[in-house]
Amino acid sequence: MKFMTWKKVAKKGSIPSGKGWEYNVDGKKIAIFNKDGYHALDALCVHQDGHIAPGELDGDVVECPLHSWHYNIKTGKLLDYLEDVKLQTYSVEVRDDGIYVDI
Ligand code: FES
Repeated sequence: MKFMTWKKVAKKGSIPSGKGWEYNVDGKKIAIFNKDGYHALDALCVHQDGHIAPGELDGDVVECPLHSWHYNIKTGKLLDYLEDVKLQTYSVEVRDDGIYVDI
């Protein structure tokens, strides 16, 4: 059984709309995107550990800045080349004092 913990990772309003930002949460690199709500997923591309948070967003899809692999930011699913590969996703909550992620 996996125990989940809500961690405060950012101030409210610190991630501009339509952008992603990377955070270190207990040693994990987590990307949080502000696009139709907040979406959190593992921050490193499965290809060669590119950082996806600064990637271009097109709808629900982020493009890895290194070699343009694509991920759905809501499901974590890789959309190119490999079947059934996903980045882990995390629940996000916006509370009065900040943005929390359940890791
Ligand atoms: S590291 Fe992401 S596409 Fe190569």
